[in-house]
Amino acid sequence: MKKLLGLLVLGLAVWFMTELVPPQPNATPSTPVKWTSSQQCKECHQEVFAEWEDSWHAKSWIDEDVIVQSDNFSNKVCIDCHAPRGVFETGVGNRVLPRSSRRAEGVDCLACHLLPNGGVAGTINMPSAPCKPEAILDLSRVSFCAGCHDQHKTVTQWRETPMADTGPDCLDCHMPFRDGNPNRGRHHGMAGGHDMTLVRSAVTLEAEREGPDILVTVENIMGAHAFPTDERSRAADIFWRPAQEDAAVRGGWTHLHRIRDPYRMEVDIPSTLLHALASQDKTGVSPRRTLRFTPGGGPIEVALFYKLAPYYRDPDGTVWKTEEVTDPLMDSSLVHRVVVP
Ligand code: HEC
Ligand code: HEC
Ligand code: HEC
Ligand code: HEC
Ligand code: HEC
Repeated sequence: MKKLLGLLVLGLAVWFMTELVPPQPNATPSTPVKWTSSQQCKECHQEVFAEWEDSWHAKSWIDEDVIVQSDNFSNKVCIDCHAPRGVFETGVGNRVLPRSSRRAEGVDCLACHLLPNGGVAGTINMPSAPCKPEAILDLSRVSFCAGCHDQHKTVTQWRETPMADTGPDCLDCHMPFRDGNPNRGRHHGMAGGHDMTLVRSAVTLEAEREGPDILVTVENIMGAHAFPTDERSRAADIFWRPAQEDAAVRGGWTHLHRIRDPYRMEVDIPSTLLHALASQDKTGVSPRRTLRFTPGGGPIEVALFYKLAPYYRDPDGTVWKTEEVTDPLMDSSLVHRVVVP
């Protein structure tokens, strides 16, 4: 009886091994998947994919402003970062190379995660996962973003602030943990200048009377890099006008100050970026700027506007340079508004 039971158990075990556990095709490792498109990652990483698809990384090739300014990419140098090959191909921190295929995917999964050995860079080693991610520390470093984001010195700016020693870093602010939970991974939405909530959190605007004058103070409180940063074509403008009962009334604004890094060919325009506090004492670098004007009697309002491109129209409808592109839908957004009685 015992023998029979033993045989039955053995038989069951053999059946179990052959039927329930799928047979290993052979002893040699299966051919690794060749990663040729971000669409392959979508199948298993749907949440990440959806976040990325909504991000400006995914739109870097179809972004209308980029298309116009690069003359539909006939300026070939623009392809480098707007349809890049892998960061790990040229090495973290180095300038990326242009891609010749599937450019419409922009800054895609492969640009950031594909390793020269054909594998996938991650934060953990997991040979059992279908994409076999490898733990690559460089993926999480500030210099990882630098290959594309230091063209206009955003990473250099951050390295000069006290945050370089204490944090937070790029990922903490631009790739926060989902639901604030480190076990949930990092959000791939990469909010930036298109996100007015983020832009509002970067600066404060104050205005007060001093005799007949109004003193306006604007300050970079985000502290990580200049405001605005990275893209030369961003601009922030301070305007004032007699206070309106209805803030939605348009027009009547007088320009007071423009915060901006000019294009390279605009040699006559000084850079007026609002820098973050530098850790070393650097003359002239202050996160705070004070402006003074004399408006005459009556309550006034002062407002800070943000533009994704400097030559979009102003809130009063004036175009800064008529020969440049204007996009009435994206003209400018209100950052802060203060009323001085
Ligand atoms: C070294 C990498 C790099 C190169 C080369 C490059 N860009 Fe960019 N570009 C970026 C990065 C990074 C951003 C994002 C920064 C930002 O949005 O502020 C950006 C953003 C932009 C934007 C703003 C997009 C938006 O969403 O509003 C425009 C317009 C643009 N680039 C045009 C160009 C043009 C035109 C060229 C070629 C003359 C070019 N870029 C070359 C990296 C690059
Ligand atoms: C057939 C399913 C599948 C495909 C296709 C796939 N992955 Fe994965 N991937 C997984 C699984 C399962 C894990 C491990 C568990 C997890 O993190 O979700 C993983 C883990 C990862 C990790 C590591 C997670 C960490 O915490 O560091 C990264 C990065 C990653 N995948 C990126 C990619 C990229 C990029 C692609 C496309 C080139 C891709 N994967 C394609 C299933 C897949
Ligand atoms: C601009 C670069 C960039 C792009 C584009 C990008 N990733 Fe990531 N990814 C990262 C970085 C950086 C991390 C986080 C490293 C860390 O947590 O320290 C990361 C983390 C991950 C992880 C680990 C788990 C998590 O959710 O944080 C997975 C999985 C992943 N990416 C998959 C993808 C997939 C799939 C795509 C395309 C849809 C993609 N990534 C596009 C840079 C990128
Ligand atoms: C391979 C090049 C590349 C890498 C690496 C890269 N980016 Fe970008 N990033 C871009 C380009 C190009 C754009 C501009 C897309 C567009 O046309 O709007 C951009 C846009 C952005 C924006 C602006 C979004 C907006 O609202 O306009 C943020 C924020 C950003 N990236 C953060 C990061 C961070 C943080 C890292 C490092 C984890 C990183 N990026 C790595 C190329 C890159
Ligand atoms: C303390 C939080 C914080 C840290 C750290 C930080 N940023 Fe930002 N970043 C912001 C805020 C707020 C804005 C919006 C205001 C602006 O554009 O300056 C922004 C804007 C940006 C933009 C969008 C610019 C545009 O014109 O659309 C890019 C790109 C960017 N940061 C890249 C980086 C990189 C790269 C690092 C790491 C070197 C970094 N940031 C570190 C808070 C942070």
